[in-house]
Parts: sequence; structure tokens; C-alpha cells
Amino acid sequence: MKKGLFITFEGLEGCGKTTQAKMLFDFLIKQKIPSIYTKEPGGTKIGDKIRKILLDQKNDGMDYKTEMLLFLASRAENVRLIILPALEEGKIVISDRFYDSTTAYQGCGRGIDLEIIKNLNSLVVGKAIPDLTFILDIDPYEGLKRSASFGNSSEMRFEEEFINKKIIRGKLFLERVRQGYYQLSQEESGRIKTIDANRSKEDIFEEIVKIVKRKIRNSI
Ligand code: TYD
Repeated sequence: MKKGLFITFEGLEGCGKTTQAKMLFDFLIKQKIPSIYTKEPGGTKIGDKIRKILLDQKNDGMDYKTEMLLFLASRAENVRLIILPALEEGKIVISDRFYDSTTAYQGCGRGIDLEIIKNLNSLVVGKAIPDLTFILDIDPYEGLKRSASFGNSSEMRFEEEFINKKIIRGKLFLERVRQGYYQLSQEESGRIKTIDANRSKEDIFEEIVKIVKRKIRNSI
């Protein structure tokens, strides 16, 4: 039986979700609350290899279906090896991106059938369904400006594609992803909290901690 608490962070590139996810992890550890941090794509040995394939600029032009299946394969490993065992031990699991990314990017962004994604996601995650999800909402261009200034240059296939190659489609792409996140937040308002990411990281964190504390209280 699942006992822990599963929290995921979502949003466009440069929204600051990694910073917030790590701040929350540090905060929980300081409070002596058993917690782990993981991320997607990656988080496991196989997942890290898949991440390299996905983000390598040399793999430009990858079929969208290949891309989707690779994200899902990375997730299957993460769920089996990291997320479910930690939840079963009663830990708080923080994941930097999870299945809403596939719905928003491959479904709403790339245009792959949402029903297919829903079924594949559910096959892959099983019982590992997030209890709480933060979407850090930011204007796509503002986010790209931020992420371009601190990105790891060998892992920029997505950013490169959005910024340089298909600037017109790129704009539409990230706007569709943002719209996808918005739709998800409307459909699952109990689980998903949208946070205005256009503020200082301290202000954002204060809001996140408030929500997490409430969630912990309610789940005891
Ligand atoms: P990453 O370098 O981890 O960036 P970020 O800090 O924005 O998370 O790159 C992950 C990229 O993969 C990002 O552009 C979002 C994309 N992605 C998908 O398209 N689908 C998915 O299911 C996941 C998990 C990520």
C-alpha cells in the first residue's frame, strides 16, 4: 500500500521549477522529514542514458513517437526503482517533472493523441499518481531567456529547437504546452496548483511551503 506523499513540479523551460523542487527537498530534510528528490527524464541508470539520447542536439529530427516512448521508458524505470519504493517506505517523493510533462509537451505540444498518452502514462506509473503538483507558470519567451543563460550546452536539444530552428513553430509549440498545462490544471484542480513564476524565488517558495504543509497536515 502507498503510504508516502508524491509531489511533482512542472512548467516550461526556465520557470524555476528545479530551484523550487530542490529548495523544498532541502527544507523537508532540515525538518527531518524523510524525502527524496528525483527528476525526469533521468533519475536512474537507464533513465540517465535515455536522457542523453533525448536531449542530445545531434538527435535533432527524432520522430515524435520515438521521443514520447523514450520519456515513458525513462519514467517506467524511475517509478519502479525510485518512486514506488520510497513511497512504500512512507517518504515524501519530489519529482522534477513527471507524467503531466508528457501530456503537455508530447500531447498538447506535439499533437500526439491525448487518449493514447493517458493510457501509456497509466500503464507506466501504476499506483505512483502524484498527490500534489505545482505548475510554475511563466511566459514562454521569458522562460527561454532565463534557461538559455544557464543551460548545459550539451543538453539543449529542446531549447535549441524552440529558440533557433523553428522560431515561428517554436513559439506556437511552447504556447500550446502552456495551454496544455492550463487545461490540466482546470481538469484536476484538486491535485494541481498553478503558481505565478514571475516573482522572486523566495516569494514563490513561501507559497509552495504553505501548500505542502497543509497537504502534510491533511494526509496524517
Ligand atoms: P531538462 O534539461 O530536464 O529541462 P527542464 O529543466 O526544463 O526540465 O529537459 C527536459 C526537456 O524534456 C524539457 O524541454 C521538457 C521535455 N519533456 C518532454 O517533452 N516530455 C516529458 O515527458 C518530459 C519528462 C520532459
